[in-house]
Amino acid sequence: MKMFRCLLTFALFLTAMTACADKKAPISSEENQVIKTIMERRSVRKYAPHTVAKDTMEIILDCGINAPNAMNRQSWEIRVVDMNKHPEFAEALPAGIFRGAPTMVFVAAEKAQRFSPVDCGLLGENMILAAQSMGVNSVVLGGPAAMIAENPELKYLLDTLAFSAGYELIYCIGFGYGLENPDAKPRMKEKYRFID
Ligand SMILES: Cc1cc2nc3c(=O)[nH]c(=O)nc-3n(C[C@H](O)[C@H](O)[C@H](O)COP(=O)(O)O)c2cc1C
Repeated sequence: MKMFRCLLTFALFLTAMTACADKKAPISSEENQVIKTIMERRSVRKYAPHTVAKDTMEIILDCGINAPNAMNRQSWEIRVVDMNKHPEFAEALPAGIFRGAPTMVFVAAEKAQRFSPVDCGLLGENMILAAQSMGVNSVVLGGPAAMIAENPELKYLLDTLAFSAGYELIYCIGFGYGLENPDAKPRMKEKYRFID
């Protein structure tokens, strides 16, 4: 009986160890799809002219709004613009500033919410990674958003976007199907440090 209990305990121990080993997270881009998607994403600045289909954009947007955000206030507003149907955006700004991306997502932050820029950034990264995982390329664009937001002569573009009162356009993200495959730019590993 004692022997049987010993064997049973040993078997249970082995089962638990195997279960733990199974749960160990895969840590390389060969094994882990999320890591692969993150490491493969690059800013693309040359696109095919056709827009991203609405149902694909809806998946991307749903991933965006599922980002963590302060107190779940969801302190963002998002406008999706088909740049082929709205040439006035590219026409009003310096040539090439939208990088030829055919689907443009404009993101506005809620001015009264301290963490809104963080919320909007996380929203954007979720969208970018969801897009990448579906073969849709992207480029974050601060330049054109700043020009639109800060130039009173371009107010008609802000009117088209029609953000609610209290929101300000802070950046946009171009989506589309890339015609280039840029290499990763070097990253500064000294920017992170473990405090032991
Ligand atoms: C807040 C922000 C603003 C950016 N603005 C622009 C921009 O106006 N034009 C542009 O071509 N790229 C812009 N980028 C893209 C960056 O240049 C790019 O992410 C960076 O060089 C790293 O390259 P990677 O995205 O290919 O890894 C912006 C990125 C961020 C996060």
